[in-house]
Amino acid sequence: MGWRLMVEYSWGVGTTKRAGGRRFDREHGVTTQALLFLSELGTSRSEAYAHVTHYEPVPVAEFRDLVRRVPKEAMRDATFVDVGAGMGRAVLVAREYPFKQIVGIELSPHLYEIARDNLAKARGFTVACRDVRLIRADARRRRFPRGDLVVFLYNPFDGQALDGVLDRIDDARGNTTWILYHTPVHAERVIGRGYEAVATLPGGIVYKLSRSAMNDSISSMASAGAK
Ligand SMILES: C[S@@+](CC[C@H](N)C(=O)[O-])C[C@H]1O[C@@H](n2cnc3c(N)ncnc32)[C@H](O)[C@@H]1O
Repeated sequence: MGWRLMVEYSWGVGTTKRAGGRRFDREHGVTTQALLFLSELGTSRSEAYAHVTHYEPVPVAEFRDLVRRVPKEAMRDATFVDVGAGMGRAVLVAREYPFKQIVGIELSPHLYEIARDNLAKARGFTVACRDVRLIRADARRRRFPRGDLVVFLYNPFDGQALDGVLDRIDDARGNTTWILYHTPVHAERVIGRGYEAVATLPGGIVYKLSRSAMNDSISSMASAGAK
């Protein structure tokens, strides 16, 4: 079954995962479990809303499975970016890993405020990264931190918006970029940029792009051509 079909088939996460989400909220004193359509949030008429899917928090175990595929040494050199941070669940959990920095970008002012509140009051996490920033912005228009990135996408928008975000990721010019794409409905756009799928998990796909390897192979092809 293709991803597109699976998403239509299993719209929203199941009852067990939602119950797990509510337990997560109780344990950590936060509010992240909800299913909201952006049109329900009373947000502005920005053109960005024409591309969004909905708000729903990532199931925690599936998120951890994706993050664990990134080696710890790579985390230490990278900024984790949650594109479409919602109420901040993935950002909260990402703090358990030794990233250089964590950035959550959220379009909806309402969700952004909830995420800030959650970050301020969250308890019961073992925190390995304390440099955490939440930004209210359209991720297509926002400059990403320079250098290596681990980008998390929980199916936040359509393919056109994804192209815009992939441009921002390219602009960061890191040596190594990881994309953790949960519910990867527009996976072909990531592959089209030269990313390699390094793990396919129940929740999504882990992609990696190593620009130094890419440049090496381009220059060896060029020098072979010159001979
Ligand atoms: C499925 S939710 C994921 C929430 C969060 N990443 C998590 O896993 O718990 C997708 C989020 O992407 C946000 N979003 C959609 N388009 C966006 C854009 N252009 N810039 C920033 N955020 C966006 C939505 O407002 C929504 O909160």
